[in-house]
Amino acid sequence: MKRVIFDTDIGIDDAMALLFLHYAADVELLGIVTGFGNADIDTTTRNALFMKERFGIDAPVFRGAPAALGLSMFDDYPDFVHGKNGLGNIDIPEVAARPEAADGAAAIVSLVNDNPHEVSIVSVGRLTNLANALALCPELPELVREVIVMGGAFGFNGHHGNVSPVAEANIAGDPTAADRAFTSGLPMTIVGLDVTQEVILDDAGFEAIRDSGGEAGRFIYEISRYYLRFHEQLTGHHECPVHDSSAVAYLLRPDLYETREAVVRVVTEGTALGQTVWTDSESAAGSDTPKCTICTGVNSQSMLQLYFETIASAAD
Ligand code: BDR
Ligand code: CA
Repeated sequence: MKRVIFDTDIGIDDAMALLFLHYAADVELLGIVTGFGNADIDTTTRNALFMKERFGIDAPVFRGAPAALGLSMFDDYPDFVHGKNGLGNIDIPEVAARPEAADGAAAIVSLVNDNPHEVSIVSVGRLTNLANALALCPELPELVREVIVMGGAFGFNGHHGNVSPVAEANIAGDPTAADRAFTSGLPMTIVGLDVTQEVILDDAGFEAIRDSGGEAGRFIYEISRYYLRFHEQLTGHHECPVHDSSAVAYLLRPDLYETREAVVRVVTEGTALGQTVWTDSESAAGSDTPKCTICTGVNSQSMLQLYFETIASAAD
């Protein structure tokens, strides 16, 4: 059983990833921690609570950081990608559920301390909550089982950036937090654009999810309409990359990914703000800088099959 904290700025692909986790066999979701990013913190927290109510997710919801620790590339939220409400502007009813009293970073620290060496943190938004948790508990790297981050781009398979020529959105939204997390010694795997942009969901894929996944499948189909329109304007194709669910896929089936070990740093100012740079040369990085695992390749067909099968299991 994998015990998981999901740290998320719930927009459209985050919601898809949350359902992936919720319906995966052998996952116990210990908590959902929210962050700003795809929308403001009130909206992403409301979205987490909405998902909890609608899909009967037991895990408590903790409200996380409202803003970046350092310079960010953004001064607004990407409603052109995820909609004003973060979920493709579908109708969202009043939500009765409320977040827990504890702050997101404090919740990460206490859940990890309550389950030493057992917790996998899957982070698919800004790394602000994780950086705050490290500040509260510098021993976190020794206590956590693994951290899987969707973010960054390292140039493998020709992928470099999606919000600038060199930067990916989750990292560009709080480069300082990301640099602290990547150099902290946390047992970290980074699932970047290098592999998330290699997995493409098209109309046939979304129709299959809608037709086989019961209520979850129909929900995914509904929220994806807005997201697909954005991507179609960008690329001319009515399809999208599979970002946040790729971090969940790595949690469930790391064998679907090719990886390498590297020191990773983040550019925290200037024209290349948010760029993730890597080296596996000790002479370049210094031998005492902790390494991360970065994903360089993916079996995209098997990744998509895992997603389809997991969501379809919700309808059984
Ligand atoms: C990442 O940015 C957000 O828009 C998505 O939810 C994903 O986490 C992709 O760059
Ligand atoms: Ca996200």
